[in-house]
Amino acid sequence: MAQFTVPTHIITGKGALDEAKAYIKSYGKKALIVTGKHVVKSTMMQALIEKLEDIEIEYNIFDGITGEPTDCMIEEGIKVYHDNNCEFLIGIGGGSPLDAAKAIGAMITNPGVIADYNGKEIPNRIPPVVAIPTTAGTGSEATKFTIITDSKKDIKMLLKGDYLIPELAIVDYEFGMTAPRSVTVATGLDALTHAVEAYTSKKATVMSDTLAVSAIKRIVKYLPLVSQDGSNREAREEMAIAALEAGICINNSSVTLVHGLSRPIGALFHVPHGMSNAMLLTRCMAFAAPEVTDRLAILARETKVATLEESDTIAADKFIVKLEEICKICEIPTLSEYGINQDTFDRAIEKMATDAVASGSPSNTRRVVTKEDCMKLYKEVY
Ligand SMILES: NC(=O)c1ccc[n+]([C@@H]2O[C@H](COP(=O)([O-])OP(=O)(O)OC[C@H]3O[C@@H](n4cnc5c(N)ncnc54)[C@H](O)[C@@H]3O)[C@@H](O)[C@H]2O)c1
Ligand SMILES: [Fe+2]
Repeated sequence: MAQFTVPTHIITGKGALDEAKAYIKSYGKKALIVTGKHVVKSTMMQALIEKLEDIEIEYNIFDGITGEPTDCMIEEGIKVYHDNNCEFLIGIGGGSPLDAAKAIGAMITNPGVIADYNGKEIPNRIPPVVAIPTTAGTGSEATKFTIITDSKKDIKMLLKGDYLIPELAIVDYEFGMTAPRSVTVATGLDALTHAVEAYTSKKATVMSDTLAVSAIKRIVKYLPLVSQDGSNREAREEMAIAALEAGICINNSSVTLVHGLSRPIGALFHVPHGMSNAMLLTRCMAFAAPEVTDRLAILARETKVATLEESDTIAADKFIVKLEEICKICEIPTLSEYGINQDTFDRAIEKMATDAVASGSPSNTRRVVTKEDCMKLYKEVY
């Protein structure tokens, strides 16, 4: 038996905002738009505001999401929401503003502070959240997760609950056209990591498998293309759909070892989320391979990197080599090449391994993962 959960409405394609107007109007009279300093000045923002004015929805803009979101940014957003009597939220931007909109929403109807809910389910229904991604990566528009940094403890908290799933996801690939190469490749590799992790997760289901295979095929074909030419519309569109598919996958089947190890690197060393996943992806998949050889072999055949005649073991190896090749095309550095000091990193390994295990994600891996395994993997990928 398996459940499958998605946002109430998903609108995809060019001009999706137009199609969304009637839904947006039904959520209330006044929206809090949550975004960052770059997107707030963009034509995407202008397009959103025009649509809101068309349907006579009032709005306030909170553009305080200046990086991956922290508890302090969420506190500020909650204040703006209350001070202006907003009734629902619109997150527009990359995964950071989308996650921030969900977290602000959570703290409108749930008591205490955001850190109280680390690792717990958000218990009360939150105001409607509209999610408009402008990167093709996190899939946050379709997930019940929000990742917020606890600035006192230096950890990326994983908050979850069905109430965090956006009411409406608006996925217009045109919004991703302006993303610079560094953002395009990091976010694309985040989506690839989601799909591969969900497919090899203990919690994989028939429905998430279908979408994972679809997302992986799109990404293997189109991420190398879009990394070379950001103006390739077809590739942007395919990547936006793949990111959505991969988000739905993790919503239902969870992430595993890669995200488990990645979040502590993000919290302590501020490596962008997709990039830290990519730094870990091939090594972690090679670690998990003995328990997921059959599944990696299917992915190899689906993406045509192995033939039907080749054994599962050879096919699985070839898929891992393919992942490595994509990371190389995307010019993903190692942690050392990224400039992280070895001594500082080595000293952080114990804390990172503890935090990774505590997040629960590594235990979704089909191979048993111990804290010692995590410490060893951190050393290997440095
Ligand atoms: N909720 C989930 O299920 C989930 C899943 C994966 C990751 N995440 C979280 O998402 C966050 C990362 O999100 P992200 O990778 O999308 O990065 P991001 O939202 O931090 O954006 C990265 C940069 O790209 C810029 N940008 C965004 N769209 C642009 C566009 N169209 N044109 C030009 N510039 C643009 C932003 O201004 C920012 O500087 C992390 O905090 C991560 O933990 C959440
Ligand atoms: Fe991710």
